[in-house]
Amino acid sequence: MSTPVLQSRLPQVGTTIFTVMSALAAETGAVNLGQGFPDFGCDPALTQAVTDAMAAGHNQYPPMPGVLVLRQAISDKVAAVYGRRYDANTEITVTAGATQAIITAILATVHPGDEVIVLEPCYDSYVPNIELAGGKVVRVPLTPGTFRPDFEQISAAINPRTRALLINTPHNPSGTVWTAAEMRQLEALLAPTNVLLISDEVYEHMVFDGQPHESAARYPGLAERAFIVSSFGKTYHVTGWKVGTVVAPAPLMAEFRKVHQFNVFTVNTPMQHALAAYMADPKPYVELPAFYQRKRDLFREGLARTRLKLLPSEGTYFQCVDISEVSDLNEADFCQWLTREIGVAAIPLSAFYGNGFDQRVVRFCFAKKDETLLAALERLARL
Ligand SMILES: Cc1ncc(COP(=O)(O)O)c(C=O)c1O
Repeated sequence: MSTPVLQSRLPQVGTTIFTVMSALAAETGAVNLGQGFPDFGCDPALTQAVTDAMAAGHNQYPPMPGVLVLRQAISDKVAAVYGRRYDANTEITVTAGATQAIITAILATVHPGDEVIVLEPCYDSYVPNIELAGGKVVRVPLTPGTFRPDFEQISAAINPRTRALLINTPHNPSGTVWTAAEMRQLEALLAPTNVLLISDEVYEHMVFDGQPHESAARYPGLAERAFIVSSFGKTYHVTGWKVGTVVAPAPLMAEFRKVHQFNVFTVNTPMQHALAAYMADPKPYVELPAFYQRKRDLFREGLARTRLKLLPSEGTYFQCVDISEVSDLNEADFCQWLTREIGVAAIPLSAFYGNGFDQRVVRFCFAKKDETLLAALERLARL
């Protein structure tokens, strides 16, 4: 007997660039500004709330859609911040991170042969998720250079087979944030269609320079067709907890829960109680833009003294730079070189495109302690 030979469901998928760059950073002792996660701790009150929840006996299966107090807290928060009230019983589900929310929304709605539009560059799970559902991936580029949505191209990609459109604002990797005008344009574009919207808003509380986050929840014509996805991991500096949330109109949520029920069923109970208690105070997410804007500005000030060309960072915890003044290498080779020779790890934007499109831009993550950012800048000063 030997192991049966498999035909891969995802033949294109290999080790992700994030894993490769993190491993290289560890091996070479480089400052890791590649993978997107904070190198600082969360509020001790939040970990204490988990301990308290465990001590209070919240250690068994929660209800399938999530503990009610957390769903109520999410409902109140979304209503307060974006002005739309989602029903805690029928329109909100707690997920194992945004990642599980997105794949579940896709598996619940995409039939084999349905088309799903992604706007490239895009987060790396979207395409394999669509493929696992048997859907056809339709790639539409964001405008090269500015990364703004190109509505002519999006419109041209929509046809009767289009099941869903995936958007992400604030946007990983570019740091762009969709404007109210762009959201209204999307609303008008989708109005005559049967297209669902999956709106990845995991960086909703990282928008800078006093600008608002234009959630799809603010736009009735979008909200009525949207799964809106968020991540407590991003908002509260606990990416390893893998707790996220999805809100959607009841008929969409009913289908979502059919899939959710039979893949994770539920998400860990004590974290949910802790998050519900912690959300009672809006201060941590209200103050998050200022917290990250200060880090962005510190990092940009240092980068401005190099020959790397700064692109705007309107939101997220990412800063992109154009490398063409500094090097003739392609993005991926430049990132290898930067890690080995300069001692700072970054991510090539080509990793976010299906065809490896190379525009000489790389991404740094500034969700790091000031001392980490300063150590990276000291090294980058050689460029
Ligand atoms: C755009 C985007 N969507 C989704 C996720 C996944 O979020 P989570 O860790 O909550 O699964 C990330 C994490 O990096 C992301 O950048």
